[in-house]
Amino acid sequence: MPEQVPLFLAPMSGVTDVAYRLLALEAGADFTSTEFTAASGLSRQDARSWAKVETHPREAPFIPQIFGGIEDEMVETSRLLSKSADVIDLNFGCPAPKVTKTCAGAAMMADPDNLISMVERCIQASEVPVSVKMRLGTSQNTITVFEIAERCAQLGVLRICVHGRTLSQKYRGDANWDMIRQVVDIAEPYGVPVIANGDIIGAKSAARCLEVTGASGLMIGRGAIGDPCIFGRIKTELGWGDFDAPWGDANEAGQKHWAWNRYVELVDEIGGPYAARNMKQHAISFTKGLPGSRELRPHLHAIKDFRLIGEPLNMAFEGYANRSHNTLAVPEAIAMAEGLKHHEFKR
Ligand SMILES: Cc1cc2nc3c(=O)[nH]c(=O)nc-3n(C[C@H](O)[C@H](O)[C@H](O)COP(=O)(O)O)c2cc1C
Repeated sequence: MPEQVPLFLAPMSGVTDVAYRLLALEAGADFTSTEFTAASGLSRQDARSWAKVETHPREAPFIPQIFGGIEDEMVETSRLLSKSADVIDLNFGCPAPKVTKTCAGAAMMADPDNLISMVERCIQASEVPVSVKMRLGTSQNTITVFEIAERCAQLGVLRICVHGRTLSQKYRGDANWDMIRQVVDIAEPYGVPVIANGDIIGAKSAARCLEVTGASGLMIGRGAIGDPCIFGRIKTELGWGDFDAPWGDANEAGQKHWAWNRYVELVDEIGGPYAARNMKQHAISFTKGLPGSRELRPHLHAIKDFRLIGEPLNMAFEGYANRSHNTLAVPEAIAMAEGLKHHEFKR
């Protein structure tokens, strides 16, 4: 069995809201960070951007992630955020065209000098350590991660997370763990830990990724969507520490049901106008992979008032978990969802 390393919930826009991050921590994750937030909005004190970098006292360390193609905005944002953050994470991995067309995110990998100048100035401006998250390069012909990682290590970044794909790959193909291994070897003499990211979906792939990369930590993204218990399962299955699963010995459906109920409690606890913004998407994600989810999902989607979605979802989970149905497509849950779909959302 590989030695225990910290597990990171990957930053994911539209997924890793503060309640979901607290949920992931309770479910076994060791580190979380906010979804990427535009330095252009933060540096101009835009309220909606600042709402994206909200945290909670139980989220420690607090690691807001920022992106942007304009160096001065990134520097000013690092300065502002460092008054409340424990670490600032700079995003050089996002492949979304609306980000890369402003030469931000993974597009920054095309110009190492520019990226390094930005990192250097953000480190100078920040009162707290700075970490970086990057891809391999912009395409298979322009792999810049080796040069960039080494120069970031020389600058003294706290850690380097590498998603083993290029910008042009987006999410296609397999993550290249061999290249992450090379980055680990490059950063090692500088004492900078490298976190491996890409295609870790359970204990087996976690162990294999560690074996190939020798990384100091693992980051999990899509595998944690609708399944935050993945972190605890990896720890349990790899015999790491004595993780005490809050879901007891529940099976996969029971774990998702636990996670959904706990997520709702956390959203309630956090409150405020933004806490529940991803609720509907999460509700639907929690059904994925379970029998009958395909039939149930469109009915959940049709519910306009996201606060009502828990009723049919709980009914479906309960029917499945107590074995009165062998599917999530519980007719009573579907009928209930149908009855709720015309309710308009009113504040
Ligand atoms: C829905 C979604 C949103 C994402 N948003 C971000 C983001 O805000 N910041 C970031 O650095 N990466 C973002 N990513 C990339 C992930 O953090 C991660 O690098 C990628 O999904 C590969 O890891 P995985 O194979 O475990 O999913 C996002 C990925 C997904 C699927």
